[in-house]
Amino acid sequence: MNAQSSTLESLTQDRIQQRVRELGEWFHNLDLRGVKTAPNHFLGNYPQVKFQQFAHAIPEDLRGKTVLDIGCNAGFYSIEMKRRGADRVVAIDFDECYLAQARFAAEVNEADIEFRQLSVYDVAQIGEKFDIVIFMGVLYHLRHPLLALDLIHEHVAGDLLLFQSMQRGSNAVMPLKEDYHFWETEVFESPGFPQMYFIEKKYSGDNTNWWIPNRACSEAMLRSAGFDVIEHPEEEVFICRTRAMNNSFGTVYPCKP
Ligand SMILES: C[S@@+](CC[C@H](N)C(=O)[O-])C[C@H]1O[C@@H](n2cnc3c(N)ncnc32)[C@H](O)[C@@H]1O
Repeated sequence: MNAQSSTLESLTQDRIQQRVRELGEWFHNLDLRGVKTAPNHFLGNYPQVKFQQFAHAIPEDLRGKTVLDIGCNAGFYSIEMKRRGADRVVAIDFDECYLAQARFAAEVNEADIEFRQLSVYDVAQIGEKFDIVIFMGVLYHLRHPLLALDLIHEHVAGDLLLFQSMQRGSNAVMPLKEDYHFWETEVFESPGFPQMYFIEKKYSGDNTNWWIPNRACSEAMLRSAGFDVIEHPEEEVFICRTRAMNNSFGTVYPCKP
């Protein structure tokens, strides 16, 4: 028996329960050898209930693939990707408390995941592109959401992006024209036009909620940052393919002759 397996053997349910308590309040309800980390989650058995809705849309066999999980929290999605055989999973979060939970959960699950304390705004520091980038449940927590998508596209997105955002407002999506006349104002009243709600104070008791898009806005921002939506398996979840863009951040402003 090697040192690691003997340490794992000593992790009785009581010890796991105690460690889970010491690690503070959990957002992910994980099952750590029978110990539930957030059994009273307001969204139920989260994120398992969410994952069930779109798990089929992610390749079952990830052998040979690399994955970056941005805003990994306690590591639910990272562990799932490891279960599917991903060669390498790098998981980042800017919150050291959540990372400590994720490290413990990975240890209990014997999942080899590289954790780093890093903000999405600093992904350039990773210096590598990944086959799959997971960006779930983070966009609406950012003051600068489009910047984050642009940085992901520029520095780490190699092929697929698994994206999720809380959405509010209409679920309608209208076809957009290339341009609108200055006096065209009605289009802004259309439920299917991209809109994002700015939360100045709090939403749902949480002052880290900043911008909440409607569905049309999620899709438009993804496109604008260089991600083509290829599947929409769940209301808030979009699977995208990274599109090559020949200029940084999408837009160039040519000089007027
Ligand atoms: C709602 S949780 C989503 C967790 C997980 N991705 C999921 O979908 O279940 C948001 C996570 O994003 C992290 N986060 C928020 N802002 C971040 C930032 N600027 N850089 C990296 N992580 C961030 C939070 O610490 C938290 O763990």
